[in-house]
Amino acid sequence: MIKQNYPLLAHNTFGIEATAACFIEYKSVAELRKLIAAGQIKSPFLHIGGGSNLLFTKDYDGVILHSNIGGIEITAETDEEVTLRVGAGVVWDDFVAYCVERRWYGAENLSLIPGEVGAGAVQNIGAYGVEVKDLITNVETVNIDGVERVYPLGECMYAYRNSIFKRPEMKNIFVTYVNFRLSKKEHYTLDYGTIRKELENYPEVNLETVRKVIIKIRQEKLPDPKIMGNAGSFFMNPIVPRTQFEALQKEYPEMPFYELEDGRVKIPAGWMIDRCGWKGKALGPVAVHDKQALVLVNRGGAKGADVIALSDAVRASVHDKFGIDIHPEVNFI
Ligand code: EPU
Repeated sequence: MIKQNYPLLAHNTFGIEATAACFIEYKSVAELRKLIAAGQIKSPFLHIGGGSNLLFTKDYDGVILHSNIGGIEITAETDEEVTLRVGAGVVWDDFVAYCVERRWYGAENLSLIPGEVGAGAVQNIGAYGVEVKDLITNVETVNIDGVERVYPLGECMYAYRNSIFKRPEMKNIFVTYVNFRLSKKEHYTLDYGTIRKELENYPEVNLETVRKVIIKIRQEKLPDPKIMGNAGSFFMNPIVPRTQFEALQKEYPEMPFYELEDGRVKIPAGWMIDRCGWKGKALGPVAVHDKQALVLVNRGGAKGADVIALSDAVRASVHDKFGIDIHPEVNFI
């Protein structure tokens, strides 16, 4: 599908009105290669996923690409595990539901994360103690010259909300399929926040009940983009040296934190924004969500510039109060 002057409202969960000069959707690697060979993918171009981590700051004067590559295929199976090849255009939560239904363990904590499989592998989506890198075996790609390359997990350079695919020089590389390994052995990751406590409301712990609990926790804190435009967490949680953390902890003993393996400490930006008094506050058509201060919401009719104005004000407050710079997780286009 190739469309000119295409409205992007349905392609960004923030609900920002913007137009792409050209919008192209493909549903197979063969179609993508044909588009490349026909010279349809001219610079500037931008490959999007479900649009759940994007902020359009103006109309896009180039080609926006979107993958509709579908399919979940079993590539190997033993008594212990299963490996799966999943199209980049598969809706992430459909994939999680598919795994839960078949009693395959590993993806359940990532229930209800918006977006698609390909973008999930680019962004290293994560929640409740699990990151998608924990499940990935390799990522299949095609570059702008039509050359296919598989990146084994070790080459993907995964880190918190980051991967090799986010580097500017990788802009010419499109994820086509992601390969995952899930376990058939019963195991869960239940130590984050209130998961264990919520599970007490169910007769047993199984994949269905864990998925239900994760969905409940998300729905209580995170606004539904169909009702109120948003892009999930707007900022990343900052990672600071231990000395800086210890100094802050003296002043704020109740501050939540997560210790990283390398000795540094991750501090929840949502907690700091909340402490700055921003929760539920609006600036024009954009507000800090009243149940989760890490989320900015479009109250209706917001433009990218309105979101940036609130983002800048929040960042300045956090810097003044805590001496920490926080950075958007959302990509500004
Ligand atoms: N907190 C507050 N006030 C707030 C928000 C949070 O005090 O307004 C406190 C909470 O009480 C808790 C701590 O901050 O002690 C962390 O909050 P939460 O568990 O809600 O997680 P988060 O750090 O704010 C991250 C991810 C989310 C993910 C959750 C659960 C990032 C940028 N965000 O949020 O991911 O769902 O952990 O794992 O890492 C996303 O990326 O879009 C996203 C939603």
